[in-house]
Amino acid sequence: MDRLKITGGRPLEGEVRVSGAKNAALPILAASLLTDGALALENVPRLMDVRTMAKLLAQMGVEVGAQDDGRLQLQARRIADPTAGYALVKTMRASVLVLGPLLARCGRARVSLPGGCAIGARPVDQHVKGLQAMGAEIDVEHGDMIASAKRLRGAQIAMDVVTVTGTENLMMAAVLAEGVTVLENAACEPEVVDLADCLASMGAKIEGAGTGTIRIEGVASLSGARHRVMPDRIETGTYLAAVAATGGKVRVSGSAPGTVGATVDKLRQAGARIDCGADRIDIEMPGRARAVSLITAPYPGFATDMQAQFMALDCVAEGTGTITETIFENRFMHAQELQRLGADIAIQGNTAVVKGVGALQGATVMATDLRASASLVVAGLVAQGETVIDRIYHLDRGYEALERKLSALGAKISRVS
Ligand code: UD1
Repeated sequence: MDRLKITGGRPLEGEVRVSGAKNAALPILAASLLTDGALALENVPRLMDVRTMAKLLAQMGVEVGAQDDGRLQLQARRIADPTAGYALVKTMRASVLVLGPLLARCGRARVSLPGGCAIGARPVDQHVKGLQAMGAEIDVEHGDMIASAKRLRGAQIAMDVVTVTGTENLMMAAVLAEGVTVLENAACEPEVVDLADCLASMGAKIEGAGTGTIRIEGVASLSGARHRVMPDRIETGTYLAAVAATGGKVRVSGSAPGTVGATVDKLRQAGARIDCGADRIDIEMPGRARAVSLITAPYPGFATDMQAQFMALDCVAEGTGTITETIFENRFMHAQELQRLGADIAIQGNTAVVKGVGALQGATVMATDLRASASLVVAGLVAQGETVIDRIYHLDRGYEALERKLSALGAKISRVS
């Protein structure tokens, strides 16, 4: 199993280019199921989760081209088997994104209940409830959801919780349904908007993506299209947080500054100087960061996927910060690992109280989920001496070429088998 070795204590300097967004690419790949035409994608990140989704689609009969310089073409001329089996679904929760498109296109689907990051109970009841409101019958047998519908019907759906993949699944189901669907309390995340843009290029009629109410008028069929995946705002935020922790001066290029407002605000509070252009963010951290407090919330609030990286930043900052997690339970597993590096963190329910310490010391730590791993990298970059991060397959799910990008910024980081 691969590990990352980091010798910390060097400021980051230079330019790093962010990749396409994992959380936009995954639903967009699943959208290829909605048409027999070819979907030609650009800026697709090279990540384990993208490979898992591509494999899942290929098993169903989708022709998946070779990924070349961010380009990836998918064509679902025929769907031989609308099944997503446990072997792949358990490795990636976002596999559930095939449920809506399969029902819409084939009228039936068998999808295992998902696994993914071990960050608390993550039900899919809202996906199921919405599809049922559109006329689907869904039973659970041996851990698989068995779904069928003659043709989905448009419906008025008020979601009980704001769910990103739930909104995306229902949007993809609704584009081929008969009549109008209105999703209320929909997720406003930029990845939902990117999916809606891709679906619109395929001929879908969608209004309101990016707001809490999305209106979708079903059409009889969709066509192939070309689409460029949006930049990854969590990868962007992770590099910005790393610079705030280590000090230095970095340009994050190929990014979408409009999607990282909450992160940038907090980094400014921490003392970073940030200047945003059309598609780049320049950050300079002149001295030690000041601790910041935050509460995670659905977009445009502070992203739960940035919480762990900010905990690492607070660990080395001046003062005390409180971090409150409201989206997922059990999403503080990184705290224990950060403590191995000498961090001072006290967990009180869903709040972590982080007292900044003068210096962290390198140690061997274990990655527990994707963003927790990113926080260990941020901490390792600033800790004195050598940090070894075990189980980095979590990082490979969501960060393209992490050690190459960080090395180019002057970090001492390498992968060892
Ligand atoms: C997506 C992101 C993930 C991010 C999360 C929150 C993808 C592939 N993943 O995950 O990186 O951390 O949004 O921004 O886009 N819930 C229910 N019932 C449901 C669905 C969700 O109760 O049917 C709850 C969850 O348990 C959680 C909350 O709603 O407490 C938000 O989850 P959700 O937005 O669905 O997360 P994902 O879409 O899985």
